[in-house]
Amino acid sequence: MGRNIITALDIGTSTIHTIVAEEQRREGGLRILGVGVAPSAGVRRGAIVDIEEAAQAIRKSVDEARRSSGVPIKSVWVSVGGTAIFVSSSRGVVAVSRADGEISHEDVKRAVAAAQSFLPRQPNRETLHIIPRDFKVDNESGVKDPVGMHGVRLEADTLIIECSSSFLKNLTKTIEHVGLSVDDYVFSPLATAEAVLTKRQKELGVLLLDIGGGTASFVVYEEGAPMQAGVLPVGGAHITNDIAIGFRTHVDVAEAVKLAYGSCIPDDLPKREHVRLADFVEGETAVYSRRELAEIIEARMGDVFELLARELKKINRTELLPAGVVMVGGTSLLPGILGLARKEMRLPIERGILQEFSSAADDTTMPSFAPAFGVVLWAYKMAREDGAGWGRGFQSFSGSRWAHWLRSLIP
Ligand SMILES: Nc1ncnc2c1ncn2[C@@H]1O[C@H](COP(=O)(O)OP(=O)(O)OP(=O)(O)O)[C@@H](O)[C@H]1O
Ligand SMILES: [Mg+2]
Repeated sequence: MGRNIITALDIGTSTIHTIVAEEQRREGGLRILGVGVAPSAGVRRGAIVDIEEAAQAIRKSVDEARRSSGVPIKSVWVSVGGTAIFVSSSRGVVAVSRADGEISHEDVKRAVAAAQSFLPRQPNRETLHIIPRDFKVDNESGVKDPVGMHGVRLEADTLIIECSSSFLKNLTKTIEHVGLSVDDYVFSPLATAEAVLTKRQKELGVLLLDIGGGTASFVVYEEGAPMQAGVLPVGGAHITNDIAIGFRTHVDVAEAVKLAYGSCIPDDLPKREHVRLADFVEGETAVYSRRELAEIIEARMGDVFELLARELKKINRTELLPAGVVMVGGTSLLPGILGLARKEMRLPIERGILQEFSSAADDTTMPSFAPAFGVVLWAYKMAREDGAGWGRGFQSFSGSRWAHWLRSLIP
């Protein structure tokens, strides 16, 4: 029997991560065989803007993973994010088909399909995931698994994740340009949640936040299922740009200054601690205080948390997530970011940790590697559930697949 290899590819705005894993047939579970990391190129806010440049960067990351794992890589599972993602919700209602009123898988499938069809048609969009959040049987709401229940009317409340068709076409074309085929796509924060959230956090109510270089993406779980998600077009690169403007210097210098001295809490810093640009680049003479630097970072990050708080307000969860916020992504490494987020969002905040493979990445690499680990777990879960899940191609699901699919939603 051939080996079952999963390769995950996370094409970020700053970094491209590849992970090769193998399913352990005998022992069960997964083993990480190799990883690859390369600086990103040709990507803006999560979307490919230059196919040739992006393909070169992907090739570098995949080649490194190929070398370190020692296995050939032909196809990849790919995370998608960025501003080409559209999140909406939709309800679908159907009459229960059986004369005795017992709800079947088929009814559930029709209710979810109806929810999708109620969504206004957008010609240039593709559906990535249709996720049922809840069902209503006659007047009984909050039903998680309606199959086997009795009723006349079945209503499905779904979260729908779509992305722009041209975005997906460019992504596919770029990956094919590297000589790889795409196994499937997954919305990045959904995959990341697989890597860092516990089942208990998902049940209690939690917001997973991935702050990368060009985007901040999030998903909110409640009662075990995703209830809201989104992508904000801000990330660490915006902080770097603000520093470059504030300190009148090049972005590369600003990035180095951020990594060496950045903090989100100006009040903690003595006024007299200085940042000398001469330490980073020859010829620069300017000297700024670390407090000024932290003020720039605090202002930008404060805006990000304010935007997130607004997203929570939209779904009436302001200060109301018992398991709080779990943060990953490279920008989550900024000193003081947890305190700032706690202050702005009034929720418990923690950094994400890998629930599995905890030895595969250290504290400094793990936050930006988390989405790729998530993609590996997502792919593994999809394979074990016979290809079922909140994946694409929902229309082709058979009844038994549907049952699996639904079961994976039930805590
Ligand atoms: N120690 C650190 N302190 C502050 N910022 C950091 C640190 N390490 C990395 N970053 C920032 O994290 C960002 C990169 O994070 P990450 O690799 O998660 O992004 P990405 O996945 O490429 O981007 P995106 O998900 O937005 O497309 C950069 O802006 C970088 O400056
Ligand atoms: Mg990312």
